[in-house]
Amino acid sequence: MKIISFSHQKGGVGKSTLCFNVAAMLSSKSRTRIIDLDVQETATNLNFLREYNNLKPFDIQKANTNEQLLELFQCAEQEKLEYICVDCGGFDADVNRVAISLSDVIITPVSTKPFEIFGLNKFITILEEIEEDAHKPICTNVVMNNIHPSLKDIQVIQDLCASKPNKVKLAQSMIRSRASFVASSAVGASVFEKNFDLGQARKEIISICEELILYNL
Ligand SMILES: Nc1ncnc2c1ncn2[C@@H]1O[C@H](COP(=O)(O)OP(=O)(O)O)[C@@H](O)[C@H]1O
Ligand SMILES: [Mg+2]
Repeated sequence: MKIISFSHQKGGVGKSTLCFNVAAMLSSKSRTRIIDLDVQETATNLNFLREYNNLKPFDIQKANTNEQLLELFQCAEQEKLEYICVDCGGFDADVNRVAISLSDVIITPVSTKPFEIFGLNKFITILEEIEEDAHKPICTNVVMNNIHPSLKDIQVIQDLCASKPNKVKLAQSMIRSRASFVASSAVGASVFEKNFDLGQARKEIISICEELILYNL
């Protein structure tokens, strides 16, 4: 069983969007479950939207405490699930730290909005603290998300990742700003369902899965 956490202490960067689209892609071939750690319950609410729109529910479970999270991991292992996608809350909390420390892959969406660099710097500090407590190396994969189609220069983020190579690795794949992510999530769907996407968003999600999960684990 592989645990993939979508984590950043900053909200609104795309953790939930990437989490359920990556989970949708993985679940097409492998037994996959989403664990929702966010008090805002974005992932959990997704299933209400899916039900309302006659879509088959995703396998989603919710944990609020470290004990509940560890129990869910244990159950998933017993059930022989292949992938667990953890949608972490956009804040720093013990339960998010436990998920990060037990993850096989950590994915941190980052945009190019001003001040993003401060948020990522703060997250690096959190990762350093988790690493110290867990006594093992912790490195996240930064995925540029919600990037304007014409934007090519991501030098500031590239420089920051290069300055902390053991903590943050910049993924080659990036996710552009696409209406299909917004339109699909409005009905609880992924970009792999219905006809919101002409193929580009799907391609980007597949590329993230291949680079960070399927060919990497
Ligand atoms: N690549 C993208 N293109 C367009 N909109 C996006 C993209 N990624 C996220 N969004 C939008 O940004 C908002 C925040 O995303 P969300 O996944 O909820 O962030 P988080 O879970 O980090 O708080 C949502 O309205 C979502 O639809
Ligand atoms: Mg979220």
